[in-house]
Amino acid sequence: MPPRWLIFVALLATVAAVVPFTIIARVRATPDANRGVHIFQDMDFQPKFKTQTKNPLFADHRSMRPAVEGSVARGETYDDTHYWEGAVHGDWAESLPSRLQLTEAFIKRGQQRFNIYCSACHGYSGYGNGMVNQRAMALMSSTEGPVMGTRWVAAKSLHDPLVREHRLGMIFNIATKGIRNMAGYQGQITTDDRWAIACYVQALQRSQNATTQDVPPELRKDLPLLK
Ligand code: HEC
Repeated sequence: MPPRWLIFVALLATVAAVVPFTIIARVRATPDANRGVHIFQDMDFQPKFKTQTKNPLFADHRSMRPAVEGSVARGETYDDTHYWEGAVHGDWAESLPSRLQLTEAFIKRGQQRFNIYCSACHGYSGYGNGMVNQRAMALMSSTEGPVMGTRWVAAKSLHDPLVREHRLGMIFNIATKGIRNMAGYQGQITTDDRWAIACYVQALQRSQNATTQDVPPELRKDLPLLK
């Protein structure tokens, strides 16, 4: 058995032997245009103008060029505030943007998306009693006090008189950007679908406050109480 210190020295030497190779590997893998010996070019030297540098080619000597006058962006612009934000001339829109059409299928689509994305908190019928809301309220009112510091703002009832006054564009905007404690769903739900949801929310609101006037006359005779 060799002495203890010798084993120690041998171990240390083994570890230290790796260090120079590590440094070499590291340096070789790091791009650096100022290195003395440049074995790998790595596109380090290119004739080009960097941003904010001088460029004698142009009269104003700027490398960064302003967009050519009259350029048109590829893809879509976001000028249509009606479609993208639900606002027309700075006020909430009352109607659908012209590129969308109000059909039964559109509202059904809205219902399906609402049931997926909104009902968890607002409930299927919109009274704010979705499962997530119920669970959070139960945790809040647990006999031992709020469980693990649960904090929850109850999901609003969509049939609250104030919410019923929201115009279509505002409901769309709430689904898009959120409001106060509610997060927006811009990232999860497509723009068309957020409009469909907004239409469905209005249909839902109307359904909960319907009068006989909402029933077409030819169908009224089928309502038992109205005969
Ligand atoms: C994670 C739970 C949750 C989900 C999911 C959710 N909401 Fe909400 N919503 C809330 C809460 C909480 C409030 C009340 C926010 C507040 O008062 O701070 C609210 C408020 C609202 C309001 C009323 C705003 C007002 O003027 O007071 C509307 C309208 C609404 N939500 C629509 C929707 C729609 C449409 C969806 C689906 C795209 C949706 N919500 C999904 C939690 C949720």
